[in-house]
Amino acid sequence: MKNADAYYLYDEAVILENLQILRKTFPDFRFFYSAKTNPNRHILETLLANGCGIDAASAGEVRLAESFGVAKENISYSAPGKTDDDIRSSLPHCRLIADSVGELSRIDKIAGELGGGFEIGIRINPAFGMDTEAGGPSQFGIDYELLESLPKLQNAEITSIHIHIQSQNLGWETLARYYENVFSLAAELKTRGFAIRIINFGSGCGIVYDESCQTPLDMAALGTAVRELTSRYAGIADELIIEPGRYLVGNAGVFRTRIIDRKVSRGKTYLIASGGMNGFLRPAAANIAKLYGPVSRGAEPLISCEHPCRISVQNNSSETEEVTVTGNLCSGFDVFARDIVLPKAEVGDYLEFSNAGSYACTLSLREFASQPKVREFFQTVSGEVRE
Ligand SMILES: Cc1ncc(COP(=O)(O)O)c(C=O)c1O
Repeated sequence: MKNADAYYLYDEAVILENLQILRKTFPDFRFFYSAKTNPNRHILETLLANGCGIDAASAGEVRLAESFGVAKENISYSAPGKTDDDIRSSLPHCRLIADSVGELSRIDKIAGELGGGFEIGIRINPAFGMDTEAGGPSQFGIDYELLESLPKLQNAEITSIHIHIQSQNLGWETLARYYENVFSLAAELKTRGFAIRIINFGSGCGIVYDESCQTPLDMAALGTAVRELTSRYAGIADELIIEPGRYLVGNAGVFRTRIIDRKVSRGKTYLIASGGMNGFLRPAAANIAKLYGPVSRGAEPLISCEHPCRISVQNNSSETEEVTVTGNLCSGFDVFARDIVLPKAEVGDYLEFSNAGSYACTLSLREFASQPKVREFFQTVSGEVRE
């Protein structure tokens, strides 16, 4: 990590701890890691070596999973607006999830060109919400009401359903109610003749971004509720899947950046660091959102809350000062934090930002202003650091 002005550091031990918690909470489920949240190869290797499949959000992520030797039944590909090329290139290599009625017909046609006999899934936009009784319109999935008039498929069979309506939930009761609704929907569809083998519940488990106002998801309580549901719906499907992303990796990463300059401008102290919006966009994005009003609800996956990470200084200073911390882009919005109190920092010190494991590196403006790209490091359980 020496000589890196700005870098991410991912901790394998934390990822494995998180996986262990999920296993205890969902003992009858498989986990398909949501690769879009952080496709770092060391993270993928760790999760694949520990029995996870891959939730791919593009044909590119299907290819990525394949390049790691993941078997097709362990790759689920769900995203709206797949092109014919996306469908053609990925259908033989994954479980493709149709996101609309039109896409279902295109998948069937292309499945015919490829010889037929494919098992596929449908993403459903259910008639329930996460916090509400009724479902709304959505760019994702096929409306529940349309399921009775799906086109008859000639070359593919629907054997799985996929539902994902909200990420970043911290309420176990909300999640338990959601899982119950999904089970109940699957049971209903089976009685209507759908040959469902796999139920994919999407993601939903959230993490704490701001300790001052959020409480962690109660996994023990959620686990009890989940076990009751799995025994009530025992035998409903061959496979139950959850697609966690940030729960596995969100708190397992930090972003560190070196202070390049410090200055006082009309009484305000600025720390200017490398790799702002082009390194770790999320803090700046939350600051920009605040300009339009209080951040009461996130705009996932970019904005989760008003204070999405803890900022600390990597030095032993006992003196504190109020500072505004910015990046080094030519943009007045390249601000990590305004008017916060930190230990007194000097040029050359590193700042550390927590919660930088998911939706962080790949979601940042890495091409902007031709600045050097931030680097990514991975610390194994044995303490080895790999790039
Ligand atoms: C279909 C689907 N699966 C899984 C995820 C991962 O969710 P999270 O990272 O919040 O756990 C998302 C996130 O938006 C998603 O859209």
